[in-house]
Parts: sequence; C-alpha cells; structure tokens
Amino acid sequence: MSESHSVITIDGPAASGKSSIARLVAQRLGRTYVNTGNMYRAMTWAVLQTGIDPQDAEAVRAAAAGIVIDSPVVDGKTQVCIAGHALTDAELNSDPVNRAVSLIARVNEVRERLVADQRALVALGPLVMEGRDIGSVVFPDSPHKIYVDASAEVRASRRGAQGHADQIAERDRLDKQRKNSPLVIPAGATVIDNSHITLDQAVEQVIAALRLQ
Ligand code: CDP
Ligand code: CDP
Repeated sequence: MSESHSVITIDGPAASGKSSIARLVAQRLGRTYVNTGNMYRAMTWAVLQTGIDPQDAEAVRAAAAGIVIDSPVVDGKTQVCIAGHALTDAELNSDPVNRAVSLIARVNEVRERLVADQRALVALGPLVMEGRDIGSVVFPDSPHKIYVDASAEVRASRRGAQGHADQIAERDRLDKQRKNSPLVIPAGATVIDNSHITLDQAVEQVIAALRLQ
C-alpha cells in the first residue's frame, strides 16, 4: 500500500462544508486535519503584502518564489506559518484574500510548490486533507475520496451567516475553469450533497462511505 492510501481526500466548492466535515471526520478517526485552502490563503496574504497586482501572473510568480509556508500540527490540525508568524483566521479570511486567492491559486508555480508541500505532509501520519484537487491531483491513488457539495443558494447563505463578504460564485468560476487542476469530482469519489442535512448527518455519511468506522 502506498503512503497516499492513508489520506482521506475531501474536495468541493466554496462554503460547501468541507472544512467542518473534514475536521469532524479527522477527530472521529484520530487523524490529522489539513486545510489546503489555508495554504493558498497564506500564500495570497504574503503575496499581497508585497503590493503586487494579483492579476499579474509574472509578478505573482516572482513574489511567491520567496515565500515558504510551514505547517506545524496544533490540536490535531495543521496551522499555516510564514517566517514564524502563525496566520490568524482574520488574516486568512480577510476580504482582500477572498478576492485574490483564486488568482494566486491558478499560477502553475504556486500550485507545484503547494502540491509538493501537501504530499510531504503524509510524514505526519494518517491525514484528512481537504481542498479542490486533493483527490484528483494531490493523492489520485487514494481509495478514500469524498466530494462535498451543496446548492449555490445554501452555500451563499451559510458563508453569509459566517459574517464573511466572500464572492464565492466568482471563486467557483475561476476554480472550475482554470487549466491547472480545476475543481472536478475526482474519479472514484463519493459525492455527498449536504444542502439539506446537518453537519453530523454529513459526517455520518462520510464515515459510512469510507467504511473506516
Ligand atoms: O473555505 P472555502 O471553500 O471558501 O475556500 P478554501 O478551501 O479556503 O480555498 C480558498 C481558495 O484556494 C479556493 O477558492 C481555490 O482558489 C484555492 N484552492 C485551490 O486552488 N486548491 C486547493 N486544494 C485548495 C484551495
Ligand atoms: O470549508 P468550506 O468552505 O467548504 O465550508 P465550511 O466553512 O466548513 O462551512 C460553511 C458553513 O456552513 C459553516 O458555518 C458550517 O458550520 C455550515 N454548515 C452547516 O451549517 N451545515 C452543513 N451541513 C454544512 C456546513
């Protein structure tokens, strides 16, 4: 069995419930939870600090080359740290980061770096890793793939209830249309639509689909 077989992959569009479900599944199964969106958000936060235009792919490439993200585990979950600074939820989910993250995430060199970092995290032990391309690109051989979905209306209202101004429809459009590693339902993934079920019910469905209980 290759190392990637120990990774449960969870992908899906913005505000579909990936993070909440992944965190609870990881707790239930005693695995480390990795939120790869936060790695792209941390990279975006650091690139924006340099003052460049996030639409300018060449400038993004140059700025990103010098940024290193560390992922120490705290309370069963990886944190995102840059130069010793652990990014706060407010920094990761700020309006400028929400607006720019899908532009940064479509730059090939950024993806190559972060995908390599994500693969290296298997050294931490059994993982639940969530994002957009985890089952399709980062760990395509994993037998444990989930795709979490919810209607656009439900997702927009749940994100609104979290108090974030977040253009999720625009991010979904960029994430699905980009050439490198677009958001897709990975081959072999179980799709769980949690538009009309609770988080606990969604977690039960994931555990049942994985047959890991
Ligand atoms: O939490 P939410 O679904 O709103 O977003 P996120 O998971 O924090 O991801 C933020 C952005 O990072 C996404 O809109 C993608 O542009 C990018 N991302 C990606 O390209 N690949 C991943 N594996 C994870 C996130
Ligand atoms: O990680 P992602 O952006 O996909 O979604 P999330 O941040 O885990 O979920 C967005 C919001 O929807 C959170 O406040 C969740 O508690 C909520 N949610 C819910 O109320 N019921 C569900 N079945 C799934 C998520």
